[in-house]
Amino acid sequence: MLLGVNIDHVATLRQARYALLPDSPNAEPSPLQAALDARDGGADSITIHVRGDRRHMQDRDAFEVRKLCPLPVNLEMGVTAEMTKLALEVRPDFACLVPETREEVTTEGGLDVAGRLAEVKACVAMLQDHGIRVSLFIDPDLHQIEAAAASGAEMIELHTGCFANAMDGAMEREIGRLIEGAKAGHAAGIQVNAGHGINYSNIYRLFVVPHLAELNIGHSIVARAMRVGFTEAVREMKELMVAYPDA
Ligand code: PXP
Repeated sequence: MLLGVNIDHVATLRQARYALLPDSPNAEPSPLQAALDARDGGADSITIHVRGDRRHMQDRDAFEVRKLCPLPVNLEMGVTAEMTKLALEVRPDFACLVPETREEVTTEGGLDVAGRLAEVKACVAMLQDHGIRVSLFIDPDLHQIEAAAASGAEMIELHTGCFANAMDGAMEREIGRLIEGAKAGHAAGIQVNAGHGINYSNIYRLFVVPHLAELNIGHSIVARAMRVGFTEAVREMKELMVAYPDA
């Protein structure tokens, strides 16, 4: 199981102070440096989400990380003409299509692929025509997985937000949904990834979910990095992942 490290919140911290001075030579912390540190800690890929509102990552971050970090880059993006244009310029290895609303604190639900199939399909095809593999961030619902398969995307990322927020009884139900979703995705011939809200305490509960090829983790690693440094925070997460049975 591979680890994609989402470095958005390194940019969140930078933007908290330098949002109005994007050219400042003192802008810190540096997302690029975080990407390089993540690589040293064993990250398998780097994820960047350039949002429509540019609240954390800026376009230049995507270009810079793409150019100067040797790891594969996963660009998370809304299904919009603006972001498709940016993706074709940045040329990430992967793109993950996500829903986006301005008011949300973070990506709140999965992409409604079933409800937006024609639009998603066109975006997937456009990216793939330019050599970019595509993942769809979806809830572990069977009709969304069927739609994802119909869209031509190579991968799905199962939204683990409900799992991460679940208490006691609800936790078993959410794990059950992820197990069924992973089996359905795998049976449809799609690579199955997962992400959102995964941390050092809850990750082991995901290990009963089969076929997981990659986890995308951001906030908990950035938070842990404040205590132990970015490289070590990534190394610790990688160490936990070794226990995954399919690893
Ligand atoms: N995957 C997707 C599609 C996301 O939008 C996010 C959050 O930006 C993550 C994974 C990572 O979530 P977290 O920061 O909670 O680990």
